[in-house]
Amino acid sequence: MKILIINGPNLNLLGRREPGIYGAETFEKFLEQLRAAYPQVEIEYFQSNIEGEIVDRLHQAGFGSEANLRDGVAHPNGGLADGIVLNAGAYTHTSVAIHDAIRAIKTPVIEVHISNVHQREEFRHHSYISPAAAGIIVGFGLDGYRLAIEGLLRKSNG
Ligand code: DQA
Repeated sequence: MKILIINGPNLNLLGRREPGIYGAETFEKFLEQLRAAYPQVEIEYFQSNIEGEIVDRLHQAGFGSEANLRDGVAHPNGGLADGIVLNAGAYTHTSVAIHDAIRAIKTPVIEVHISNVHQREEFRHHSYISPAAAGIIVGFGLDGYRLAIEGLLRKSNG
């Protein structure tokens, strides 16, 4: 089982950015623990502050290979990921392009937010990701990524 975690803008600053909201742990440290907890899962990690790079990474994971991408063949379990855990950061609230990219692939995408966005500013209450996502996990801190992996594992085991 291959799972790709994608973190969007400003999430490279976890541990240093507003620790009262996002916690004091870096994602790199957390990722080590996650990989140790799921040795049977190949966990790949991608972070970008650039919207188009996130779109490209979703295409790549969903279509599996350059050839499939060229021929427009979407694989249900795209050669490059069986499931995707996506925290699109602020693009959650703005990006039609990421919404469309999720719709364009068959790989299930679980939307994660570290904070409970519904307890925060009004502009964080709407997500362009949610209608396209296979599931949503909000407000559990970094543990949300683990919960998303659990959900993907259960889905793949039927
Ligand atoms: C976030 C919530 C977003 O509103 C914010 O822009 C982020 C992080 C979260 O994980 O809680 O960058 O996605």
